[in-house]
Amino acid sequence: MSCTGCCADNKLKELEKIIEKYKDIRGALIPVLHEAQELYGYLPLSVQKKIAEGLNIPLSEVYGVVTFYTQFSLNPKGKYKISVCLGTACYVKGAGEIYDKISEILNIKSGECTPDGLFSLDACRCIGACGLAPVITINEDVHGRLTVDDVPGIIQKYIDKEKEAKDQEKLVEA
Ligand code: FES
Repeated sequence: MSCTGCCADNKLKELEKIIEKYKDIRGALIPVLHEAQELYGYLPLSVQKKIAEGLNIPLSEVYGVVTFYTQFSLNPKGKYKISVCLGTACYVKGAGEIYDKISEILNIKSGECTPDGLFSLDACRCIGACGLAPVITINEDVHGRLTVDDVPGIIQKYIDKEKEAKDQEKLVEA
């Protein structure tokens, strides 16, 4: 049976504990945001409001920080987080077309997540692997020197990986 209300309550209690832990410390906002994002996977407005109230600072300040730093996200992320580097070296080697192909296959844009929660897509700045341009990362995996034709196979690899994991789970349950 899926759990909705009680999980939300547990998370809220957890968030309150995080706020309490940092409340009286200077510069509390960034660590609170980090831990809250670990807890929720992203930072929806409701969570930002709770943090603003708990730390007694304006919501606009919280929102300003969340939108300034790229490590914070306003949207849910997929199990596989795809980042396409659009830095100069990657861009001149066709990162734009790679991004478009991923977007076309998954039918999502930057900052969005597929409805099954499997993939999310983001554009990012140089990740320091310009020698491998154009580069994308999927979670911790780095895929470099890509062509548009490589993209479907790479995405399929993660879909297959997911399917294998599910099949494995079924075997264990059986
Ligand atoms: S520009 Fe893409 S890794 Fe540097």
